[in-house]
Parts: sequence; structure tokens; C-alpha cells
Amino acid sequence: DADLAAQGEKVFKKCAACHQVGEGAKNKTGPVLNGVVGAPITHIEGFKYSKDFTDAHAEGFIWTEENLTAYLHKPKAMFPKTKMTFAGLKKDEEIAAVIEYLKSVSQ
Ligand code: HEM
Repeated sequence: DADLAAQGEKVFKKCAACHQVGEGAKNKTGPVLNGVVGAPITHIEGFKYSKDFTDAHAEGFIWTEENLTAYLHKPKAMFPKTKMTFAGLKKDEEIAAVIEYLKSVSQ
């Protein structure tokens, strides 16, 4: 829904130091997030991901909304050695909103 996506755009400011989305997005400290919702983990070819991530890819891990919700709540709880040095988002509403934003910018 558009309202939730608009809220998510604000939340994404916390991610934008490392991630870009949309047309012309480039990898920065973190990979481009276009199309990530529903994609296999390590969805960007050429980005150097952590071993935790490449191992999960080999096991068929998918960024379902459920998995994204858990990861964004506390990245290191799900992948202890993830290169994403981000504590996480505390509020469930923020997480739902940022996921909706990611879906809206990159179908
Ligand atoms: C990976 C989302 C904040 C750095 C990822 C992935 C997602 C994501 C979905 C998996 C990408 C994939 O599998 O291709 C977000 C969101 C953020 C956020 C929504 C804000 C709420 C940050 C910040 C940083 C960062 C602030 C840098 C300090 C990274 C890095 C990876 C990553 C380096 C690769 C992790 C690895 O290889 O272990 N992020 N991120 N992210 N993110 Fe973030």
C-alpha cells in the first residue's frame, strides 16, 4: 500500500548510507536492493558478500518477507558474521514499511 511505502521511504534513510535503490542504483558499502524482496540471498552478481551469505545461498535461502523481517530486526541474530554492520530496526511497523518501500521501488 502506498502510504506504508511512503513511510518506508523515510525509514530507508537509515539504510541509504550503504544501499541504493531505483534506476541507476549502484553498489556501495552494501549491495543494490532492487528486486531483493522474494529473491535468493546474494541477489547481486559481483558484490562481495560474507561467507554466511554465500553459505545461505547454497542452502537455497530466499528473502521472503518473513526472513527479511527477522533479518532487519537483528541482522547478527540471523547471520552472526554478516558484513552488514547495522543494529537493526526496533519497530515492527518500520520493518513492514521499509519492506513495502523496497517492493514499490523495484518490481
Ligand atoms: C545486505 C537491507 C542497512 C550494509 C543487505 C540485504 C538486505 C539489506 C535485504 C541482503 C542483500 C542481498 O542478499 O543481496 C538493509 C536495510 C537497511 C540496511 C533495509 C536499513 C534498514 C544497512 C547499513 C549498512 C548495510 C546501514 C552499512 C553500514 C550491508 C552489507 C550487506 C547488506 C555490507 C551484505 C551483507 C553480507 O554480505 O553479509 N542489506 N540494509 N546495510 N547490507 Fe544492508
